[in-house]
This record gives sequence, C-alpha cells and structure tokens, in this order.
Amino acid sequence: MGKVYVFDHPLIQHKLTYIRDTSTGTKEFRELVDEVASLMAFEITRDLPLMEVDVETPVCTAKSKVLSGKKLGIIPILRAGLGMVDGILKLIPAAKVGHIGLYRDPVTLQPVEYYVKLPSDIEERDFIVVDPMLATGGSAVEAINSLKKRGGKNIKFMCLIAAPEGVEVVKEAHPDVDIYIAALDEKLNDHGYIVPGLGDAGDRLYGTK
Ligand code: PRP
Ligand code: URA
Repeated sequence: MGKVYVFDHPLIQHKLTYIRDTSTGTKEFRELVDEVASLMAFEITRDLPLMEVDVETPVCTAKSKVLSGKKLGIIPILRAGLGMVDGILKLIPAAKVGHIGLYRDPVTLQPVEYYVKLPSDIEERDFIVVDPMLATGGSAVEAINSLKKRGGKNIKFMCLIAAPEGVEVVKEAHPDVDIYIAALDEKLNDHGYIVPGLGDAGDRLYGTK
C-alpha cells in the first residue's frame, strides 16, 4: 500500500494558514502556493540518488556529491495544479513538465479529461503529479490512470490539502503511489468541498468566480 506523508514543517503550516484565509487576495494566494510547493519539493526530493564527484575548492581537491541525474517529470492537473509548478521547478529546474487537463463535473463530481500532453521520454522518468486539492480523489485517480496508460511508472502524488475520503480512494486505486500532503483536513461537505479547506483552488489562484 502507498505511504501517506503529512508535512508538519512549521513554515509549511504557517503559509498554509494564510492560503486558507478567505481575506488573502489572488496575488498573495499565488505567491504562497508557489512557496509551499517549493518547500514540499524540498521534502519530496529527500530520496533522490547522489553520486560522488571530485571538486576543486580554492584549497584542495575534495570528494563531494551531486545528483546522479535521475530524470523527473512534474505533472500538474489543470488548472489549479499549474500554481505549484514554478515553485517545484525552482528546486529541480531540469524536470520536464507534462499537463493533464481535468475538470470536476459540478453535479456528478466525476472528473472529465480535456487535455493530455506528456514528456516524450515517459518511460525514463519518475513523476510527481501535483494538484492543490485532493477532495473525492476522482481527479487524482483519473490523472494517474492517464499517466500510467501512457507508460508512466514510479509516480508520487503531491497536494496542499486532502480530505481523508480522497486519500483512501487514491490509496485503493493506486497502491503503488505515495501521497504527500501539507495538511490532512477533516472531511468533505455535501458539495464535495474540503472542510475547512481553502475553497475553490482554481478560482482563488486565477481570480475567477
Ligand atoms: C479541483 C482541484 C482538483 C479537483 C479535486 O479542480 O484542483 O483537480 O477539483 O477534486 P476531486 O478530488 O473531488 O476530484 P476543478 O475540477 O475545480 O478544476 P479547475 O482546477 O480547472 O478549477
Ligand atoms: N476542488 C477545490 O478546488 N476545492 C475543494 O475543496 C474541492 C475540490
């Protein structure tokens, strides 16, 4: 079964409070999501493999370490996942970015796929699928299905806020996928929104409503 990591880093928790706050405007919301995505990327890349190299310091030749060149792919679920991409790329700029466009039907709450564009060397990469919200889990499951169908393996899922219901749905559908969460909230409401959550992530990022 996939593991679930809930980040308890004080900086992540602090920034998340302002992300949740309904009085936080679009510009600040976007900046905070970007910052939290960077902090989460720092934690999620903990297990990246290293190799030893020689480096000439001003004093001597030393053995030191660099990343061994594992290829990564970041897959935002459109729209709201886009808000996390730049923050991750600041730390891992060599990653390629694929896009999966899904929206959640407001009545059935089922995900509807409208766009997929993935890196061509999909078989060689490890992937991080990103979306600020994991609510019913339908969008995450469908995005991971879509990635796997095209050859994607070694997939992690990263989100800001998750409902327990959505976590269970993803674990059940994709037991090979580890889930990284900034905050695990209480529940879903009758409209499939996370409580307490942050509202509609796409609308808050892009000022639509
Ligand atoms: C939101 C969010 C997730 C999805 C989560 O997207 O960004 O993709 O809902 O809900 P689920 O776990 O119940 O599937 P939305 O469908 O509102 O689309 P948008 O990002 O284009 O606004
Ligand atoms: N999508 C959102 O943007 N917010 C929620 O709370 C649930 C789904």
